[in-house]
Amino acid sequence: MSTSPVTHDTVMRALGDVHDPELHRSIVALGMVGEVRVEGGRVGIAIKLTVAGCPLKAEIQRRVSAAIAGLPGVETVHVTLDTMTDEERHRLRTGIGGGPKRTSPFTDDSPTTVIAIASGKGGVGKSSITANLAIVLARRGHSVGLLDADVYGYSIPRMMGVHRPAVMVDDLMIPVEAHGVRLMSIGFLTEDDSPVIWRGPMLHKALTSFVTDVFWDDPDYLLVDLPPGTGDVSLTIAQLLPAAAMVIVTTPQVTAQRVARRAASMATRVNLPIVGVIENMSWFIAPDTGTRYEVFSGGGGAALAAEIGVPLLGQIPLESSVATAGDDGLPVVAAAPASPAAQALERAATAITTALAPA
Ligand SMILES: Nc1ncnc2c1ncn2[C@@H]1O[C@H](COP(=O)(O)OP(=O)(O)OP(=O)(O)O)[C@@H](O)[C@H]1O
Ligand SMILES: [Mg+2]
Repeated sequence: MSTSPVTHDTVMRALGDVHDPELHRSIVALGMVGEVRVEGGRVGIAIKLTVAGCPLKAEIQRRVSAAIAGLPGVETVHVTLDTMTDEERHRLRTGIGGGPKRTSPFTDDSPTTVIAIASGKGGVGKSSITANLAIVLARRGHSVGLLDADVYGYSIPRMMGVHRPAVMVDDLMIPVEAHGVRLMSIGFLTEDDSPVIWRGPMLHKALTSFVTDVFWDDPDYLLVDLPPGTGDVSLTIAQLLPAAAMVIVTTPQVTAQRVARRAASMATRVNLPIVGVIENMSWFIAPDTGTRYEVFSGGGGAALAAEIGVPLLGQIPLESSVATAGDDGLPVVAAAPASPAAQALERAATAITTALAPA
């Protein structure tokens, strides 16, 4: 077989197209490529990882091998892994925009549409809805960040099936990517599942750090999963993300509606616009008979939306696949995209993006 010889240049060019899975930049530009040896058809590449034991090393190695193995004339690819020196890591961090004094990247002129999902009440499905909407938007080709602001009862790591810590580059936290979504949660920073106890100033500092010290990298959308209620966390997040729009989640009951109204009045107090209401657990369709049951009578979503003067963005049925998929780390829009709940979440995502699209 006669082929043109492999050169150092062709290898470097091909490596230039290989992106780090979480930094979304070329590994060449990030300074992650060390020595490259080309001997006949044999190529040896040294990759410098940002941290020793990087959880993504196998994926990086796979991407590098795949990019080089296909080049004409290449017979074997040998990828070795090494770790960056402090100086190299610092250079990388500076290169991706991590100056020593960072401010919130989500100001009024940022390209990111920030959407905070709130409710006055616990357990109405905020986290499930946030996780699913994030995946829907990512699957539509948008870059999407998800900030889990529920520092007391975080559930995003489990729902998104992530069981590893976030990578730190110096003091810059790199979001953990799952189902195409960039995630940050306090759950990636604690050792175990023990509850985190926060005192006021620490809480404020931690939340601020989640906004400023995370490599969000200007995603198209940033979804924020708020804790239940209208306490300190929600207020702090609202102040940190002044360009956010709010989506209120409620269930059909009248009492839920009354509590959700509190979240709406909080939005008014912190001066955030409300995009609309999503009603969750709206009805249940018996899988065997197809009979529709209004489990919680009320029509609370529509009533609340009318009262605030915003659209009802969607009604999500009560469906066991929503709960099981969440427990399995594969939200329903990914696990069962044809299910009525997944379809309803798709429509809700469209309603939100349409409502927020610049006129
Ligand atoms: N449409 C649905 N159908 C079936 N189960 C659902 C649905 N929506 C949410 N659930 C389940 O209800 C429970 C509460 O949902 P979730 O954790 O999303 O609510 P939350 O409002 O974020 O709660 P918290 O206030 O504790 O943060 C979970 O077990 C979830 O799987
Ligand atoms: Mg939650």
